[in-house]
Amino acid sequence: MAHKFINKVEAGETINDIYLVKDPILRSTTRGDLYIAMFLCDRSGQINGRMWQATEIIYKSIPKPGFVHIQGRSELYQNNLQVIVNKITQIDSSKVNIDDFLPKTKKNVEKMFEEVKQIISQIKNPQLKAIVDSFLNDEERMEKFISSPGGMKLHHSCIGGLLEHVHNMLCVANAILPMYPNVQPDLVLAGIFLHDMGKTEELSYDLSFSYTNQGQLLGHIVQSVLMINDKISLLKSGGTDFDQQIIDSLEHIIVSHHGQYEYGSPKLPAMTEAFMVCFIDDLDAKINMVESAIAEEDGDENWTAWKNALQTRLYKKRLE
Ligand SMILES: [Fe+2]
Ligand SMILES: [Fe+2]
Repeated sequence: MAHKFINKVEAGETINDIYLVKDPILRSTTRGDLYIAMFLCDRSGQINGRMWQATEIIYKSIPKPGFVHIQGRSELYQNNLQVIVNKITQIDSSKVNIDDFLPKTKKNVEKMFEEVKQIISQIKNPQLKAIVDSFLNDEERMEKFISSPGGMKLHHSCIGGLLEHVHNMLCVANAILPMYPNVQPDLVLAGIFLHDMGKTEELSYDLSFSYTNQGQLLGHIVQSVLMINDKISLLKSGGTDFDQQIIDSLEHIIVSHHGQYEYGSPKLPAMTEAFMVCFIDDLDAKINMVESAIAEEDGDENWTAWKNALQTRLYKKRLE
């Protein structure tokens, strides 16, 4: 049976399906009866769930978080949809179609990764090449690189989203670099490939997208620089010599790529290559944000709702 997506649930429907349950809480009503409040989620969104006449045994049987089979009914409560849960049963994740729960890039992952490798193979500087190759040869890191989301919420928040973002950026750089002959392509290409590498550790995506403890504490900019330094140390101990200026320039591109202090960059771009990476990053993130925001709102309205991250409503109407 096809999965009933949360964003398609309407009031008054019978619910009999698998959902990801998050943050269940056991509470008591003013009369002293126990009930469980929870969120039911899938890749399309989340909805409040309520189980009245609950018991501690039922509460303890609910994974926190995890997959559950829900039997119940949807209803409108104070103008918000919620699901009244009559029965909740834990489901083993092996029995679940994970694609219903985590959005995945619509593009071909293998093809994008091949093109990424092909574009960065143009890097000629031997030290930058050694750094980039040490990442490419790190199978575990590359596994994560091709499956990580590009972000939690704002842009490319899907499995393979990081690869899609880096692939887009490398293609844009490849197209515009010939217009700027003084910009050093090796730095731009290596900088793009590595700029968000920290996201492979910043975000976790087992049941849903969330920050890891290290990601929450350090953030992907710092994590990317630490990863690059680890690789350089390994290469140095293997006998490769490094020019500090090359390391500083590459790491400057990484730390400045958010472009503003309030967006988490400790330094503002101070090299043409850093400006280029920062602008291409912003271009790709914004286009993705706009396209996903428009795609999320179906219907005939010409305008989307207000989008906080973009500080505007978006005009959806296309030319005939
Ligand atoms: Fe970033
Ligand atoms: Fe980025």
